[in-house]
Amino acid sequence: MTTTDTIETRPDVLYLGNPVLFVTTRSPEGQVNLAPFSSMWTLGDTMVLGVSCGSRTGMNLAAGGDVVVNVAGESLWPAAEAMAESTGLHPDLDTRAVRPDYDPDKFATTGLTEVPSLDVDVPRIAECPMQIEGRVLRETRAQAGHFWIVEAKVLHVHVHSELVDPETARFLPEQWRPLLYTFRHYRAASRTLAVSKRARLAAQSRSSANTVSGSSDRDQLRSHSQMTRAGMPRRA
Ligand SMILES: Cc1cc2nc3c(=O)[nH]c(=O)nc-3n(C[C@H](O)[C@H](O)[C@H](O)COP(=O)(O)O)c2cc1C
Repeated sequence: MTTTDTIETRPDVLYLGNPVLFVTTRSPEGQVNLAPFSSMWTLGDTMVLGVSCGSRTGMNLAAGGDVVVNVAGESLWPAAEAMAESTGLHPDLDTRAVRPDYDPDKFATTGLTEVPSLDVDVPRIAECPMQIEGRVLRETRAQAGHFWIVEAKVLHVHVHSELVDPETARFLPEQWRPLLYTFRHYRAASRTLAVSKRARLAAQSRSSANTVSGSSDRDQLRSHSQMTRAGMPRRA
């Protein structure tokens, strides 16, 4: 048991250990941008992002563009660092001069690979172990107009194949190695402490549902990958 004494402190940031996300968006002029973010939560098929209004990403989302949230794995911290001090914003909004930190092609800078999405006109990033396609529903200004709270609907979740059990088609949390941003340090979180009661109950109810319907998770995975190979319309 560690101490229960407390000392009041004020960390520079309250990044408690959020996954690092490479967020891809497209500007109204059609230019693709990507940038690292970490303020996100999800519930059901809703994801909520906290994005600075002064960023290219924030402007693209506020202009009504779609989004792909690419969740970075542990090995991708150098790519996050390569983009940390640059922007897809051109030019400076006040002076109209080209910003010194302007980077028009962060895919080239980072060496990351674009792959097309199924239903949004924004690319995914092949190297990211999870890629979430989202449709932006609304943005709300927060903290005296400094950042957007962006709400998006999850359309598709793509994961690297080694993260899915080939027998059951279920996602394998033990294989998940997200890169975390913790008080501005890149950290890993790879150890499972326990499987929750809720996870066990969900597995039980899935297995009874499969018995009743006769259609297994694996059948559903097969039909999804056939659809993906056959090519889906880019936009819903
Ligand atoms: C690991 C990491 C996490 C970040 N998280 C956020 C965030 O959650 N929200 C935000 O507004 N900026 C965040 N930033 C800063 C943006 O990446 C930065 O403002 C970037 O220049 C935006 O690029 P853009 O103008 O091309 O969109 C983060 C930076 C790093 C390196």
